[in-house]
Amino acid sequence: ILNVGKTINNLEEDPSIQIAAQRLQEGEVVAFPTETVYGLGGNALSDKAIHRIFQAKGRPSDNPLIVHIADENKLDDYVEKIPSHAQKLMEAYWPGPLTIVLEDKGKLSTGVTAGLSTVAVRMPDHPIALALIRAANLPLAAPSANTSGKPSPTTAQHVYKDLKGSISTIIDGGPTGVGVESTVVDCTGKTVTILRPGGITKEQLEEVVGPVDVDPALITEDTAPKSPGMKYTHYAPSAPLVLVDGSPAFFEKKISEARASGKRVGILISEENKGRFIAHKEVVLGSKKDLSTVAAKLYESLRIFNEQEVDIIFSEVYPEMNLGAAIMNRLRKAAGGNVLVEHLPR
Ligand code: TXA
Ligand code: MG
Repeated sequence: ILNVGKTINNLEEDPSIQIAAQRLQEGEVVAFPTETVYGLGGNALSDKAIHRIFQAKGRPSDNPLIVHIADENKLDDYVEKIPSHAQKLMEAYWPGPLTIVLEDKGKLSTGVTAGLSTVAVRMPDHPIALALIRAANLPLAAPSANTSGKPSPTTAQHVYKDLKGSISTIIDGGPTGVGVESTVVDCTGKTVTILRPGGITKEQLEEVVGPVDVDPALITEDTAPKSPGMKYTHYAPSAPLVLVDGSPAFFEKKISEARASGKRVGILISEENKGRFIAHKEVVLGSKKDLSTVAAKLYESLRIFNEQEVDIIFSEVYPEMNLGAAIMNRLRKAAGGNVLVEHLPR
């Protein structure tokens, strides 16, 4: 685990960044912080590095990687064309938690795109990530630095826990800020389509490009997602997670029923409802009035339960506007679609 000097102005010359950059140039993989979650980076031009990424994570090989760049001008090397809606989104939200899918030029290692004709690219908004990309002078393919299926890592310790023994290098930049991954948008069509909700909201996209589409697979289970990663089970804590959509009395009832059947109950609760229910373990997520606090603590909270002995976890649901869309997408996946809805008498 490498630490980065806090006083150095020119991060690119930080000794830890230099060591990590050299390892990347040698085809090794390096975990590093971004503003969303920690990524496991490798040279996007190297088959060896890409193979190592998939191997370390235990990631299915049909799930393509996001390419991280630090300079917009490099984009032309890897994509066929930059449509005007994509250009506008880049100007508005890069660097930032927005990944743009464009037509691939075929210059990157084939594992990066998993054989698709498109490539996903983003410019992260984190000084360490940007310094590392610049120091290595390489496009970095980087999935989240967790074991496949686990919640994404928001601290270097999460990465260490998942990947120790399979990678040599983690740059510790402290906890990440946003807490959920980047929004993935497909910009190869006439309109922009959201493939994965994330740190840049639908509302923010529409401010810049007008109405955007949402991949139908995000709404129903009946269609195959366009973003291959969205079809896999994800973010799962070790005990089953159940979402509870209803009144506090309904939530209370679900806890009591589980307790009555001898289960040890964990609850994932908002700031507003903390201390309201009796459970074996309560983890407070954040405030419903400021969903960025919920996003920031989401994965850490799911990991806390991993270490606790509970048999079932109940979570509240959150309003699906703004960041709530990404939060609910991740919670639904973590719950494997298990949602209890209160049916109120009319
Ligand atoms: O915030 C993030 O995006 C983080 C940090 C490290 O940058 N990265 C991340 O990567 O979340 P990963 O690999 O965990 O998720 C990448 C998602 C997957 O759902 C994948 O299927 C999708 O992006 N994706 C990658 N290339 C694609 C493409 N060409 N077309 C459609 N979806 C693509
Ligand atoms: Mg991931």
